[in-house]
Amino acid sequence: VSHFSISKSFQGKKVLITSGPTQEAIDPVRFISNHSSGKMGAALAEAFANQGADVHVVLGHGAIRPHGSNIHIVQVKSTLEMYEAAKEYHHKMDICIFAAAVADYSPKNIAKEKIKKAGEGMTIELVKNIDIAGTLGQEKSPHQIHVGFALETENEAFHAKEKLMKKNFDMIVLNSMKEAGAGFQLDTNKVTLFSKNGNEQTSEVLPKAQIAQLILQQIKQLPVEI
Ligand code: CTP
Ligand code: CA
Repeated sequence: VSHFSISKSFQGKKVLITSGPTQEAIDPVRFISNHSSGKMGAALAEAFANQGADVHVVLGHGAIRPHGSNIHIVQVKSTLEMYEAAKEYHHKMDICIFAAAVADYSPKNIAKEKIKKAGEGMTIELVKNIDIAGTLGQEKSPHQIHVGFALETENEAFHAKEKLMKKNFDMIVLNSMKEAGAGFQLDTNKVTLFSKNGNEQTSEVLPKAQIAQLILQQIKQLPVEI
């Protein structure tokens, strides 16, 4: 009978998760992207769904798909597509988790035809992409919770806290780069959670499903009434 008493503490809550990499086309056959697997986003989607939430995942191309009956997935490729899909949902959501690894820049022009090899070098002009979390953060209501991610290689805590403020997050999850067993593609991770109210918590190296549980626990502690 124990599975009947699992606490469904996000029952009916609406949760948006961006997950996976974005892809920026260079020409019809090439793109700029990154190594994000979407495993952390998928683990979070499943954790929320298991606790009764209605989950919407805006998923980058090739990322791991979460599974569950109350998980709805929208597939996107580019950062702009991810932004537009996220914006559609944002105002209806109680909680938004920005777990995607978003390309910071994209080619200024997408070549219509495959670019032919010519010359000894080549330059692609890039322009800055929209900041999905930052832009939606400006529209956040006092009854919404936004959670961001950061991965830094120096002054990790400083940069994470700076992003927490700048993007109007309620909490940011700093991924540890320096730990074996943490990072992209892996099934385990080690994180530090910084909340806007000053709470800080560092995990052990744990399976991403357990990291997701920790993040959900911390979200419940936030002083926001959703
Ligand atoms: N993010 C986003 N849209 C972007 C860039 C980042 O939504 N265009 C989100 C990420 O999903 C993450 C958070 O913002 O939750 C921090 O991402 P990060 O790449 O660390 O931040 P940047 O502002 O891009 O700063 P940096 O120069 O360190 O890459
Ligand atoms: Ca970035």
